[in-house]
Amino acid sequence: MSKFKTTFYTIETGKIPGLKRPWRLALLADLHNKSYGPDNRLLLEEIRKNHPDGILIAGDLIISDRKKQEVHKDAAYQLLIALAAEYPVYLGNGNHEHRMREFPDSFAGEYDSYIRMLRSCGIHTLVNGHLTQQIGGALVTIYGFELDFSYYKRFTRKPFAVTCLTDALGTPDPGHYNILIAHNPVYFPQYAKWGADLTVSGHLHGGIIRIPGIGGLITPQAKLFPKYDAGYFEEQGRSLIVSRGLGSHTVNLRIFNPAELIFIDITNRQEDITK
Ligand SMILES: [Fe+2]
Repeated sequence: MSKFKTTFYTIETGKIPGLKRPWRLALLADLHNKSYGPDNRLLLEEIRKNHPDGILIAGDLIISDRKKQEVHKDAAYQLLIALAAEYPVYLGNGNHEHRMREFPDSFAGEYDSYIRMLRSCGIHTLVNGHLTQQIGGALVTIYGFELDFSYYKRFTRKPFAVTCLTDALGTPDPGHYNILIAHNPVYFPQYAKWGADLTVSGHLHGGIIRIPGIGGLITPQAKLFPKYDAGYFEEQGRSLIVSRGLGSHTVNLRIFNPAELIFIDITNRQEDITK
């Protein structure tokens, strides 16, 4: 698994009417400390070639193993530092980063070092946080939601209410274009209802094995044929993009399921341009 594919999506919105050209965001998820070439040179070259305006990180760039009390992180940290030197980076945690935070004694306090590293290189660390900025004269808010580890248990799906989001993040302003970084896509209906115009996720690694015409086989929670396995989904007029991820761990297997780097072009809805 030394290659990845590059996938492009275009999302139209009427909320950023001043956009004169697409606002391009790269989406990286589930690198799990993999390096494509020395110092992730191949991944960085592909990102540079496509000239993004910013980078969304949807979690699990590292591997944390609680039983072995290990964190595999060097390639991931190095990549983040390199990206932050060239682009605005908006980062949300996955379950592997959350595990470090939740169980500091198992990881020799590595989470604190991780946060220090992110801050020292100017990465927007959105761990149940948000950032609002002007894009094309409109206000865009990027949220990062950290799902509690109790929602990641195998063979279960814990009920999840929209209030879990409002408690963690507040209520989004419907006048803003609201982007939600949420590592686990399984609660997309709730993310949409909460008010995320665009949710970006990963976590499922494309379902490990992709069956042509059907989709991804299995989730990390051992659910078969997950609905939001990979790609683009739309509900309630809101969008979800799920990355197949860039790496793997534990089950180091991908069948008909290449790793992927994603670019998302956010554009003005056509009827708004021609007005
Ligand atoms: Fe994950």
